[in-house]
Amino acid sequence: MAEVVVVGGASEGGDLVARAIRDLIASRPDAVLGLATGSTPLPVYASLAVSLREDPLDVSRVRGFSLDEYVGLPEGHPESYRSVITRDVVELLGLAPDNVLVPNGDPGALQTAGEDYERAILAAGGVDLQILGIGRTGHLGFNEPGSSFASMTRVKTLTPETRRDNARFFDSPSDVPVHCITQGLGTILRARHLVLLACGEEKAEAVAAAVEGPLTAQRPGSIIALHPHVTVVVDEAAASRLDNLAYYRYAYANKPRWQGI
Ligand code: F6R
Repeated sequence: MAEVVVVGGASEGGDLVARAIRDLIASRPDAVLGLATGSTPLPVYASLAVSLREDPLDVSRVRGFSLDEYVGLPEGHPESYRSVITRDVVELLGLAPDNVLVPNGDPGALQTAGEDYERAILAAGGVDLQILGIGRTGHLGFNEPGSSFASMTRVKTLTPETRRDNARFFDSPSDVPVHCITQGLGTILRARHLVLLACGEEKAEAVAAAVEGPLTAQRPGSIIALHPHVTVVVDEAAASRLDNLAYYRYAYANKPRWQGI
């Protein structure tokens, strides 16, 4: 069962996850982080940046793999996930740029980009801690409903709903690419620790489907039931549709603190 941690808000969740990442890097200086984009993980990166400024830690060997990328945005487009990861993670945390990879969304490279990316993740020894957000459709990465549980990095078609949700980052909704390249659900399941964050009422239904099932490809988030180490960090609003919320609170309140998340 996923561990569910209910936090007071996005910044408390960010602090909690940033501490876990910091502990990981302290014990494994070449840790491999799985990086999500979108709004949800920003407080994690911001909190980690503050913590690294106040109490420096060598991050020069930390490696990272982003979950996904839009297909066909021109190089350097400010909303390409390459640009976002460079700005919001690599530069903010002071990581070595060459240590952080993003799937290649160049249309000319797509036939082999997925396999290349999988090979790179395997060569790095796999992802230690994978940060995840969740879409209102229940997508993890950009694995929209119906995605295979066994899928690896490949091209997918974004749903109109996800394109609408992400239009806030673009000048016009029609500028949001139709296609993306995303780690598969099978890729995500190989990471050693999944940390899924969600805030807000609009995520409550997707969170409930992810945490409490049923396990179905129609709700990609439900794959977390197949993973032995998952932490779901949610605010009250995102937790509001969970049937067993009282039990999750009780379990977390009674957890030995040395276990971390
Ligand atoms: C981003 C990603 C997506 C987002 C999801 C939620 O790399 O893979 O699954 O995590 O769309 O987005 P936000 O956080 O913007 O609500």
